[in-house]
Amino acid sequence: MDIQKETSKIKSMIEEDKKSVKTIQELNELKVKYMGKKGIISELNSKIKDVPNEEKKTFGMKVNEVRTLFNDFYDAKKEEIENKVLNEKLEKERIDITMPSKKIKRGSKHPMTRIEEKFEDLFLSMGYTIYDGPEIESDENCFQKLNLPKGHAARDAQDTFYLKDEFENYLLRSQTSTAQVRAMEENKDKGPLRIVCPGKVYRRDEDATHSHQFMQIEGLVIDENVSMADLKGTLELFCKAILGEKTKVRFRPSYFPFTEPSVEVDVTCFKCGGKGCALCKQTGWIEVLGAGMVHPNVLEMSGYDSKKYQGFAFGTGIDRFAMFKYGITDIRTIYGNDIRFLTQFDRKDDE
Ligand code: PHE
Repeated sequence: MDIQKETSKIKSMIEEDKKSVKTIQELNELKVKYMGKKGIISELNSKIKDVPNEEKKTFGMKVNEVRTLFNDFYDAKKEEIENKVLNEKLEKERIDITMPSKKIKRGSKHPMTRIEEKFEDLFLSMGYTIYDGPEIESDENCFQKLNLPKGHAARDAQDTFYLKDEFENYLLRSQTSTAQVRAMEENKDKGPLRIVCPGKVYRRDEDATHSHQFMQIEGLVIDENVSMADLKGTLELFCKAILGEKTKVRFRPSYFPFTEPSVEVDVTCFKCGGKGCALCKQTGWIEVLGAGMVHPNVLEMSGYDSKKYQGFAFGTGIDRFAMFKYGITDIRTIYGNDIRFLTQFDRKDDE
């Protein structure tokens, strides 16, 4: 056998085959054809045993030559095909980053959040801390420890939502005054306290100015030598800060079981300035707060020495302030989450 001839035949076969290979599959078929167990090069190699010893070396070298030729071709072609496939894929999956994005709508703060934050900022600046209480409360905290024992007539005014079965002593709190009880009980040294508690409360009410869910903010100050004058000064400052410097404040005697004496606080109608209009029902005044000196029973029930300490408390509806301030006539719109309503407050950042 003329090895020189054999290998040049194989070389030209490879050269010929090279031209038509386009895919990895075709390339692998060629690999089998030349390098497989029964492949052309392998077959040739196996003939070495019949070659006379002195020619074996040249024979081996020649076979190696074609083997290397094929392998080099194989490696180069493989890389070429893989690159081509990858490039095609990249081209196909290209992301068009020039496409305009979806517009993100700018949100605005809910009117209730605005008012709540205003209240909180004001009281924080006066040294109060913000106190958070749960919305599900015990009857004890919501009523009994606020001097409203079971069967007390004043409970009717806060007719509310009780839980069922084994939780029947729990309810959705009807007033943030429950925070008074919690703050006093948690204060282990039974010393001075100065808190505000904003939050949701619930009552069985539903009309244009009442919602079954609304928001109150409660304030409580306990210290030695606290008097009605402190309460009056605080609330005057509060009303003026929120509703404007010209606002006049009026205290009327009232009744709450947990304060004694109790007052209701009116402010001059911010719409007509006190002259009388539809909003204030021609009286010139609008009622905004309930308040009073903490009843000694309430102090004692939560472990305070009522001989040493006095306190004042006040509570108001945040919704009411929002309605007055923004001229909202139906409380239900506050909770409706209608975007057309909410966007009206976009530009009220100046307040
Ligand atoms: N909790 C009372 C209410 O909801 C308001 C109030 C608070 C009155 C604190 C006096 C003192 O009507």
